[in-house]
Amino acid sequence: MPVKGGVNAFLPERTGRFLMAIPLRLDEQKFSTGGSAMGLAIRQLHPLFVGELRGANLDSNVDATTRDTIERAMDQYAVCVLPEQNLDDERQVAFSRLYGPLENASAVAHQRKAGVIGERIKLPEIFDVSNLDETGKILPEDDARWQYRQANELWHTDSSFRQKSAAWSMLHARIVPPSGGDTYFTDTRAAYDALPDAMKKKIENLKAEHSIWYSRGQRGGYVPTEQERAARPPAQHPLVRRHPGSGRKALFIASHASHIIGWPADESRTLLDELMAFAIQPQFVYGHKWRAGDLVIWDNRCTMHRASEFESNDHKREMRRTTVIDVQYTKASAA
Ligand code: OGA
Ligand code: MN
Repeated sequence: MPVKGGVNAFLPERTGRFLMAIPLRLDEQKFSTGGSAMGLAIRQLHPLFVGELRGANLDSNVDATTRDTIERAMDQYAVCVLPEQNLDDERQVAFSRLYGPLENASAVAHQRKAGVIGERIKLPEIFDVSNLDETGKILPEDDARWQYRQANELWHTDSSFRQKSAAWSMLHARIVPPSGGDTYFTDTRAAYDALPDAMKKKIENLKAEHSIWYSRGQRGGYVPTEQERAARPPAQHPLVRRHPGSGRKALFIASHASHIIGWPADESRTLLDELMAFAIQPQFVYGHKWRAGDLVIWDNRCTMHRASEFESNDHKREMRRTTVIDVQYTKASAA
């Protein structure tokens, strides 16, 4: 199924077929929390993945049972929605740290201006996923910071452009616009399972190069300085990796994936486009409509995600992200 239109085929369209939200499945399941006072109720939001977990209060100290229950749910569902979480930055960071060391958000040029660093966000572990400036005002459309952040509208997986790639991301909704701004997720384990055997064989031992400047280049908006380019060199990862939590194989592709190592550019592009198109078919995709207070956790090793448009000149959308480093993989890939 070769795809015409190159990378632009993956730019979101308002009415694109893969924007369709899949209806909720209402069968509920109770997770046993092994004697903890806190009962966690979980229901699956998509036939293939995504769990909604209620009953955990992440604002107070999270006990070991709750921590482990969330981990088991993540292993299975890959995306977990925890509604009504009243988190501030300190609590979000403290909760996220229960699962491993966190990435620091690297400031790009223009992102933070001298003298006002940290005015709105003080902790380096918090990624600013918003259309706001340091003082909380809406960024103008042509602002470099907003253009940089809008690359989130491409299907991607966080930090695949780092050799120390990410395990989980946790995104907390502080302010949501009245409409739009949904986030879409796709399960790349399910996509891998559904690939024809010949394709599975073809990609078995391939590696791709991932670069943040490649994905930023696709949007055309943000041009890095030489210093930024040097500070964030590309990374290389296998196209297929085993997801440790579920033991299942997953496709590891993203808008950051520029080419297959050792392949001619055009063949590389065709294969990556084909795999991307396959992985974002509607049966693999869940669209999340945010409510303020939602914490959504996703596993970057077996999902891709993308933001979608909203009326960003008129409405605020403020999300804050923490990102857990995939320590296990980092060690293994350095060996
Ligand atoms: C992110 C991201 C999507 C969104 O925080 O990593 O891609 O909808 N967010 O804001
Ligand atoms: Mn992201």
